[in-house]
Amino acid sequence: MEYRPKITVLPTEAEFDRYAARKVVEAIKSNPKIHLTMPTGKTPEGMYALLADACRMQEISFGEVVICNLDEYWPINPEAPDSYASYMKDNLISKVDIKPGNWHIPRGDAPDPQEEAESYDELVSELGIDLAVLGLGPGLTCHIGFNEVGASFDTRTRLVRLDPVTAEVNKRHFVNKGSFVTSAITQGLGTIMEARKIVLLAKGLAKANGVGRFLLGPIDEDCPVSVLRTREYVEVILDSEAASKLN
Ligand code: F6R
Repeated sequence: MEYRPKITVLPTEAEFDRYAARKVVEAIKSNPKIHLTMPTGKTPEGMYALLADACRMQEISFGEVVICNLDEYWPINPEAPDSYASYMKDNLISKVDIKPGNWHIPRGDAPDPQEEAESYDELVSELGIDLAVLGLGPGLTCHIGFNEVGASFDTRTRLVRLDPVTAEVNKRHFVNKGSFVTSAITQGLGTIMEARKIVLLAKGLAKANGVGRFLLGPIDEDCPVSVLRTREYVEVILDSEAASKLN
């Protein structure tokens, strides 16, 4: 069975960020105890800034919200500036009223990454995710989380190697380029698919081919994000550059 995701295209980056943030704000308003899966990366930075604003203006509270991040590099010191734990603290966690015990992310310094992955997977499954917000990998990696080309649709949280294209792009964002790592612990495709609703964000020309492959190509493991076309309650939010290969 194939489903067509709801697709929303926003003309500018500012409108994209506002629309994406509004989705999360409305979700929190309708369920203040919502369980969220959240991504890192360039794409959601504007959304996080607006979510922090909404909390500061007391439009929403994260007081009862639970956040499970999608992934974390491994091995990495969670306190290092390039860890996704630091990214989350800088972009959201330090700016909102979330309870410390309500934010979860795989431990980049776990001595046994597979054990860490398994216990993280259990945690995410036990909590149950109401809304998963995802980003899309660069080029034709078509990854979600760090589920790269070839990942089977039923994968669970595990240690993975980054695709060379992902590694090249992500290394550019590393402050300490010499300490760039090419492995990560990521929620699996099967784990992500357990979320009740999913919103995928893709912004910029670098995502155009991947978005085209996702929405117009076959559903298969060469395109991990295509798993989202096998279920309901998926919304895809694009800016006009990311949508440019759809017509
Ligand atoms: C990050 C993650 C990745 C990113 C994707 C897009 O937590 O899971 O799938 O969402 O690589 O990254 P940006 O937004 O930097 O293009």
